[in-house]
Amino acid sequence: MAEALYAADGGYYSAPGRMIGRAGDFFTSVSAGPVFGELLAHHVAAVAPLGDFRIVEIGAHHGTLAADLLTALHRDFPETAARARYTILEPLPTLAAVQGRNLAAWQVDIREQIGEIPPGDGILIANELIDALPCQVLESDGTGWQEIGVGLGAEGDFQWQALGPAENLAAGLPMREAGYRTEVRPDLRAFLAPLVERVSRMLFIDYGFEREEFLDPARRDGTLRTYLKHQAGEDALLEPGSRDITAHVDFSSLREDIRGLGGEIVRFENQSRFLTALARQILLEKEGRIDEATRRWVRNFQTLTHPGQLGAKFHVMEAHFPARRI
Ligand SMILES: C[S@@+](CC[C@H](N)C(=O)[O-])C[C@H]1O[C@@H](n2cnc3c(N)ncnc32)[C@H](O)[C@@H]1O
Repeated sequence: MAEALYAADGGYYSAPGRMIGRAGDFFTSVSAGPVFGELLAHHVAAVAPLGDFRIVEIGAHHGTLAADLLTALHRDFPETAARARYTILEPLPTLAAVQGRNLAAWQVDIREQIGEIPPGDGILIANELIDALPCQVLESDGTGWQEIGVGLGAEGDFQWQALGPAENLAAGLPMREAGYRTEVRPDLRAFLAPLVERVSRMLFIDYGFEREEFLDPARRDGTLRTYLKHQAGEDALLEPGSRDITAHVDFSSLREDIRGLGGEIVRFENQSRFLTALARQILLEKEGRIDEATRRWVRNFQTLTHPGQLGAKFHVMEAHFPARRI
């Protein structure tokens, strides 16, 4: 998954021109329009620390969320905007170049490595990041969990291959019937660890489930999927580099990782509840208006919050790290 998505030579996200939205392979809340960034700006203003602070975004892709959020923050909360510094963590040079171009009007720092971000009291924003982080695949043999990996078949094609027992990776997972597959991200905690001295708040927005639902006995094939031109596929080994690969977030596991790093969960709710609470005042102000801009805004808001669209599928997990040593 790491190679197929991020290899400098041929990785899906490393290739230039990967659009998200109608012209691309999948939609996100960001590609639905600017209301998502506007409402996140309202959230940032509500939770911003005193004094200067940093907004750190990981998974910024073409910088659309950054532009939407900064536009709203400067317009609606100029005092908070004056104290905020926006930093994008972007290891891929192709994406960093696009972000630099698209965000030229704003003072945005684009950094390749976490170590380049100074310690501080920042706010991390990660929309649909974790689902795009490489996962490991486990398969039940009926009595235990085996890890399965990708190997080469006799014809040089990619094939799933058993890698052996995976007791450590499967710690805490209930047993499932033989052939049942699921995914784990054992590296996530180590990925988040260096952020803890740089941000005191982390906001993760993604699709996924709590452990019990993640491991629903009916979910026999796990959640690993590909996306090409808005069509979901189940064969993750097909034409690597040509399509997106994703696996849902196990929010129970993310909660454990956050707690393991000294954080506390201050919010876990679906996107509909989160955004509707943030939009309350704006919706009151728009009531009774019928101009085209208002209608567009309401349509965008409904796409983000309607349970049949993105409202129930996406969840928001927010963590606070109260006692950090900076
Ligand atoms: C599914 S896309 C979401 C893009 C955007 N946040 C949105 O919602 O439209 C996942 C993004 O995460 C980025 N990403 C994956 N791993 C990353 C990492 N370790 N550091 C920074 N970005 C990463 C990918 O390059 C890609 O741009």
